[in-house]
Amino acid sequence: MHESAKLFSGKKGVIMGVANEHSLAAGVAGFLSAQGAELAFSHLPDKDGRNRMEQRVRRVTDKLNTKLLAPCDVSSNDDIVAFFNKVSDSFGSIDFFVHSVAFAPVEDIRCPTVACSRAGFLNAMDISVYSFIATARAASEFMSSGGSIATMTYFGAEKVLAGYNMMGVCKAALEASVRYLANDLGPKNIRVNAVSAGPVKTLAASAVGDFSTMLGINAAIAPLGRNVTNDDVGRSTAMLLSDMASSITGEILHVDCGYNIMGSPGHAIERLSKK
Ligand SMILES: NC(=O)c1ccc[n+]([C@@H]2O[C@H](COP(=O)([O-])OP(=O)(O)OC[C@H]3O[C@@H](n4cnc5c(N)ncnc54)[C@H](O)[C@@H]3O)[C@@H](O)[C@H]2O)c1
Repeated sequence: MHESAKLFSGKKGVIMGVANEHSLAAGVAGFLSAQGAELAFSHLPDKDGRNRMEQRVRRVTDKLNTKLLAPCDVSSNDDIVAFFNKVSDSFGSIDFFVHSVAFAPVEDIRCPTVACSRAGFLNAMDISVYSFIATARAASEFMSSGGSIATMTYFGAEKVLAGYNMMGVCKAALEASVRYLANDLGPKNIRVNAVSAGPVKTLAASAVGDFSTMLGINAAIAPLGRNVTNDDVGRSTAMLLSDMASSITGEILHVDCGYNIMGSPGHAIERLSKK
């Protein structure tokens, strides 16, 4: 394909949330890079001086069209300001921003929601929800000619899913934040959307109890009869970031092989009985 024909030629943007090649953010980054985008990434700061976090992320970003890789703990306002100042030094203005970050203490996600601790809940809400507001605000300041922002959510925001527990409450707040930020930033021609991804085995997903069972159930019930990959999620997120979605804002786009539409086990009985 000729360079000028690529979907993201001449576009620059920031991706937060690559931990390794399995990350949903890695799927987004791979597609955007292949489509000509110039990218800036964050990694969790290393606390012991051994640069292990940076090296793990670099294994993914070194293969891509990466202009910047710098530390940012999204629970720190100072880190967010310092990171986006580096983005500004590298890029001037940006066209898109991807927030693919979540965290909850294992002991608080592995217990019934009714039993989660105040400290664990606030920590999860801070890193999984407030960080979206804080980083979207910072990113929007460098979107001088409009732009597009996307975050990652899960169906557990809408319905009770076994094992998802208090993270479902966080994702509900994240989805509401998408709508309010879409309204706030619309006058600057900045669109704000979320991808509600089906389950993918990643580092963060390992905090959710019995994830393998969840994967099996999803594939059996989903109309398409399979689970999504981080490439699937990457392409759909890129669509929302691109001009192809120029009138879409405040939307929660399900990228889940259709699982969310089902009100009964659907094809699950025949699929599981064939095994
Ligand atoms: N994997 C799934 O099944 C699934 C499904 C739907 C939505 N999601 C969402 O996708 C997003 C990405 O998760 P993933 O599954 O790719 O897992 P992942 O572990 O690859 O990514 C999570 C990222 O959050 C980052 N992070 C955590 N705390 C941070 C902090 N304080 N500061 C900065 N970064 C921090 C981690 O470094 C990591 O890069 C999350 O919001 C998750 O809830 C995941």
